[in-house]
Parts: sequence; C-alpha cells; structure tokens
Amino acid sequence: MKKIKDIRKEIGKIKKEGKIIGFVPTMGYLHKGHISLIRKAKKQSDYVVVSIFVNPTQFGPEEDFERYPRDIKRDIEILKNEKVDLLFNPEVDEMYKEDFKTWVYVDEFSEIFEGKFRPGHFKGVCTVVLKLFNIIQPDKAYFGWKDAQQLIIIKKMVNDLNIPVKIIPCPTIREEDGLASSSRNVYLDERERSKALCLYRALKRIEQLVKKEKIYNREILLKEGRTIIEKEENVELQYLEMVKINDLKKVEKVEKGTIILGAIKIGKIRLIDNLLIKKF
Ligand code: PAF
Repeated sequence: MKKIKDIRKEIGKIKKEGKIIGFVPTMGYLHKGHISLIRKAKKQSDYVVVSIFVNPTQFGPEEDFERYPRDIKRDIEILKNEKVDLLFNPEVDEMYKEDFKTWVYVDEFSEIFEGKFRPGHFKGVCTVVLKLFNIIQPDKAYFGWKDAQQLIIIKKMVNDLNIPVKIIPCPTIREEDGLASSSRNVYLDERERSKALCLYRALKRIEQLVKKEKIYNREILLKEGRTIIEKEENVELQYLEMVKINDLKKVEKVEKGTIILGAIKIGKIRLIDNLLIKKF
C-alpha cells in the first residue's frame, strides 16, 4: 500500500480485532538482517507491517540517496515468503508534502559519532520514524543493533516523547566472513570488501582482550583496535570509541552496558559496525 489513508483504514480494522501489531521499518533492498527482524516480529506479534521507504531527509546533499540500492520486486517476493501481512511503500510526496516544516531531533545524541560525519542524518531518521509510528501505530517496533546509535536515539525519542511503542533491539546479522549485513555492502568490490573486514577484526580483538585477558582500560583497548584498522591501506578510520549504551557517553573502563562504536571509509563508502561488550 502506498497511501496513508489506506494504511489507516487497514490498521483501524486490525486494532479493532485487538491484534498486536509488530512493525519493521526499512529502506528496502532487503537482506538477512531485515529478514531476522521480520521473523522476530512474526514470533512476537499477530500482525506484521514492513515499510520500505528510502527517506530523502536522512541523506546529506553529498550522500547516496539517488544511487541507494532499490529492488522493490525482489523485496516484495521476500515479504511474501516471510508472510508479512502488510507493506507500506509510500512515494516521497506522500510522506513529505511541499509545505512540510516539522522536525524531530534528539539533542546531543544526534551530533556525535555518525551525527558528526552525517550532519542532519538523525533529524531525518527521527522525523520519519515518528511519522511511520503515527501512521502504523505499532505495539512493537524492531531495530537492529547494527545501527546502534540509531537504535539508542530512537529509544530515547520514544521515551522522551512518551510514544506508545515498545522498541525491540535485535542482534546484528553477519555474512560468513563476519561483515555486518547491510544494503550498502553491494557498493563494495572484492578488494574493498576484504579491506572492510578490518573493522570487524578490530572489534573482535577488543572483545578477546576483554574476555580472555581481562583488559578493561579504554586507552589500551582502543589503541589495539585502531592499530589493526590503521594498518590497512586506503582505509580511513573515522572513529572508534567506547561508550555507555544508555547515553552514548565515553567510558574509561568496560562496565555493564559498554559498546564499542566504529566507522571506516573506503573510497567513497562508509561502513559502521559495533560490539556490545560486557565484563566477563
Ligand atoms: O535503518 C534504516 O533502514 C532507516 O534509518 C529507517 C529506520 C528505516 C528510517 O528511514
């Protein structure tokens, strides 16, 4: 369905039947990660809605909005196989009328890490996600840990604005070689793809230092991770940081709810990944 009024009608009926609505927002070009979100939603809800909308307001002027991968036919086949109940795939002018003026923005959280390299990105994400929540009125919404900062910001928005939806975080799904599944992986040629793995290797090394060698110090852990990435030619390390999951503030020592966030750039392609670490 492409029209908000049609979705509202359908959702109205489902709500009257007292069904639990699970929602998976996506930008399409579905991969294993999206499928795992859909399967979790199917298990936990009576009716599953997926949205496919490449949201222009979360892309900067120099970013890849135009060339972002799209394949709606293939996506629809996947959704049919997964027995998704409803697809919402609006056009841009259905979501943003010409006189659109209202934005949602989570202060502080949105300016660091991804927000620093992609100014305005999270304003676009929060605005579209809140619009989607208002249109679909889900009981539960599913987001992957792959985009950890996005997940943390959306949780904060939901909490701060008392939005009646439960955010369900889902684990990052990886390819066989460890690369986190992402629609943008399609941009990588073979050589770039093997270089891209240095970020995952750095995260795994940090995990090993924590788990096996009981090293919890921020400086030591990050230095080790940075060295692995900096050794890789033609890879730019944009950030590697150790933060608390609830407020994205830097921590000096690994504690409960610590996450390592990282981003690298290979040519024009940016890749992010992260690792949740606990004290073992
Ligand atoms: O993670 C994504 O695919 C997008 O940022 C989202 C949440 C669908 C909003 O456009």
